[in-house]
Amino acid sequence: MEIKNVCVLGAGLMGNGIAQICAQSGFQVTLRDIEQRFIDGGMNAIKKNLGRDVEKGRRTKEEMDAILGRIKPTLDLKEAAGAADVVVEVVIEVMEVKKKVYEELEATVPSHCLFFTNTSGLSITEMAACTKRPERFIGTHFFNPVPVMRLLEIIRGYETSDETLKVAKEWGKKIGKEAIVVQEAPAFAVNRILCTMINEAFYTLGEGVANAEDIDKGMVLGCNHPIGPLALSDLIGNETLLRIMEGLERELGDKYRPAPLLRKLVRAGRLGRKTGKGVYDYSKA
Ligand code: CAA
Repeated sequence: MEIKNVCVLGAGLMGNGIAQICAQSGFQVTLRDIEQRFIDGGMNAIKKNLGRDVEKGRRTKEEMDAILGRIKPTLDLKEAAGAADVVVEVVIEVMEVKKKVYEELEATVPSHCLFFTNTSGLSITEMAACTKRPERFIGTHFFNPVPVMRLLEIIRGYETSDETLKVAKEWGKKIGKEAIVVQEAPAFAVNRILCTMINEAFYTLGEGVANAEDIDKGMVLGCNHPIGPLALSDLIGNETLLRIMEGLERELGDKYRPAPLLRKLVRAGRLGRKTGKGVYDYSKA
C-alpha cells in the first residue's frame, strides 16, 4: 500500500511537528484540531520553524511556500480524514478521549486507512481494540522537538499485522526518521528509561542532594546529555512526565513512584516552558 494523504489529528506541539515533516517529505497533509486557536497556533509554529530554515539558508522561500501549500488546516473531521491513507492521531493523552476519536474516525475514513497513534505510553492494544481495524493500527511515538529528533519508536499492538508494520517503517524512513520497533509495554522502551531517570532527578532535587542547576550540569557535563533532566522535564511538560510515571507505577509497581516534588510542581501549575515556569522560570526570558 502507498501512502499519499496523511491526516494529522491534533495541531499541538507534537502534531504540528509531524504535519511539518510529512509536508516536507512530499505528503499531502490535512491538519485538524477542534478549535481555530489550536489550528492557528500549530500553523504559526510550522511557519516559524520553516522561516528559520529560510533565514539560515537551508531552504528557499519557494520551498517553504510549497511545503505550506501541502498542509490543509481544518476543523472539519470529514474534510481532514475522508480521503486519508493514514491518520496520525496526536490528541490529548487520555485513553477515553482517544477512544472517542477512533469511534468518530471509523465512520469517516476510507476502508484501507491505517491508524497511527502518537502516545507517550498508553496501550496501543486497548485503543486498537475499540476500532474495526486492530490489524491496521500501530503506535508511532515521536520525540520533541519533532523536526529535530531523529528517532521514531514504532510499537506493535497485539493484533498489528506485519503489513502495517512494514508500511509504518517505510513511512518513517520517508519522513527522515530512524525507527526502532518495540513490543507494547508500559511507556514502551525509551520513555520507560528516560522518564525514570528524570523522576530520579526530581527525587535527588527534593531530597536536597544538589540544586537544580547542578543536577542538570552534572548530567550534561558528566554524561554528555544535550540537556539536563530537569530542564528536559520542563521541555516535555511536567504533567506529561507525571502521567507517564503514574502509568508505569500502576502497571509495574512502586519502583516507578512519581517523586513528591514532581507532583507538587504540577499542582502549582508549574508545567514547564509552556506555562512560563516549571523547575526553572522562563517568564523573563
Ligand atoms: N522546533 C524545530 N527546531 C528546533 C526546535 C523546535 N522546537 N528547538 C530547537 N530547534 C533546532 C534549532 O533551530 C537548532 O537548529 P540549527 O542549529 O540547525 O539552527 C537546533 O535545534 C538546536 O537548537 P538550539 O541551538 O536553540 O538549542 P540547543 O542546542 O539547546 O538544542 C534541543 C535544543 C535540540 C532541544 C536539545 O536541547 C536537545 O536535543 N534536547 C533533548 C531533547 C530530548 O531529549 N527530547 C526527547 C524528549 S522525550 C519525548 O519527546 C517523548 C515523550 O513522549 C515525552
